Amino acid sequence: MYVAGVLGTGSALPEKVITNFDLEKVVDTSDQWITSRTGIKERRQAAPDETTSTLSVQASRKALAKAGIKAADLDLIICSTISPDMPLPSTASLIQHALGARGCCAFDLAAACSGFLFGMTVAEQFIRTDAAKYVLVIGAELLSRYLDYKDRATCVIFGDGVAAAVFGPVEPPSGILAHELHTEGQYADHLFIPAGGTALPASRKTVEEGAHYIKMRGNELFKVAVRSLEDVSRQVLKKAGLTADDLDLFIPHQANQRITEAVRERLGVCPEKIYNNISRVGNTSSASIPICLDECVQSGRLKKGDLVLMSAFGAGVTWGAVLMRW
Ligand code: UT7
Repeated sequence: MYVAGVLGTGSALPEKVITNFDLEKVVDTSDQWITSRTGIKERRQAAPDETTSTLSVQASRKALAKAGIKAADLDLIICSTISPDMPLPSTASLIQHALGARGCCAFDLAAACSGFLFGMTVAEQFIRTDAAKYVLVIGAELLSRYLDYKDRATCVIFGDGVAAAVFGPVEPPSGILAHELHTEGQYADHLFIPAGGTALPASRKTVEEGAHYIKMRGNELFKVAVRSLEDVSRQVLKKAGLTADDLDLFIPHQANQRITEAVRERLGVCPEKIYNNISRVGNTSSASIPICLDECVQSGRLKKGDLVLMSAFGAGVTWGAVLMRW
């Protein structure tokens, strides 16, 4: 049995910045409301010629270079996204071709904001059992393409971004120590895109009604998110026989700074140990945790031997946590 860990990370953010003041001009909102309710000051928006796969290729190339391996060495590519380039084929197929990882198995994974942790967990199973040596996991979202800029409840929240990590066998005590994933479909209608699938195929009517845009019952989700993030964080710590006091770094999914603060307090993690970047990038769904991870690696915030807890919650609803020793 092998132990899986991160060999390299990379991220790619679109250049265009949309500030809260920009949004004040298009929808009935204010910088004061967005900042106090979410912690967000600005987010990124992809240019028309950028897609989920093109940004993924940029982030993946950086992660491969940091890992010191070639695309041809990859055994598996997992692209976590709910904003694919197109319904068919998978975005992972497009990324695999652009990277030149010929013949390497590649598929998309849809678990919304928890998707990167779901992808990490799949990668860990493949590596642990020697079914794969090198696995590229990408968290990639261009949610601006699914936002209704007349709906102030959603258009101020989400941002675009991509990040990737190469996983491979590592020497203990480094590596993934514990993981825990959950889904509860009874809350499916709390965050969804009604049209464009088999339930409501795209038509002139669905477009006129805006049914191809994200709909969110944010207030109901808020309570479920705090409870689920706290529970799942405790579960992985317990599995590994560790406590919140042992943590060096806590990276929660960046849904809302009030959510992450509430979870941090409930877990008893001290304020210096949490990493947040929501003020600069907003909620980038499945790209949120890997962007944070890449920023922590690049800035030296995450050092070898550190114990890091990552916890996420998203549409589905899905939630999960991964505990790893860097
Ligand atoms: O990514 C993972 C899944 N997503 C989440 O976990 C999201 C969790 N939910 C949230 O982060 C928060 O619920 C939101 C930030 C989305 C909303 O904050 P809230 O404090 O729950 O606000 P609310 O939905 O209860 O709305 C309060 C008021 C309403 O007005 P009334 O009915 O009290 O007059 C809204 O219409 O705020 C209004 N409102 C806004 N006002 C100004 C909603 N959005 C805005 C806005 N600007 N952008």
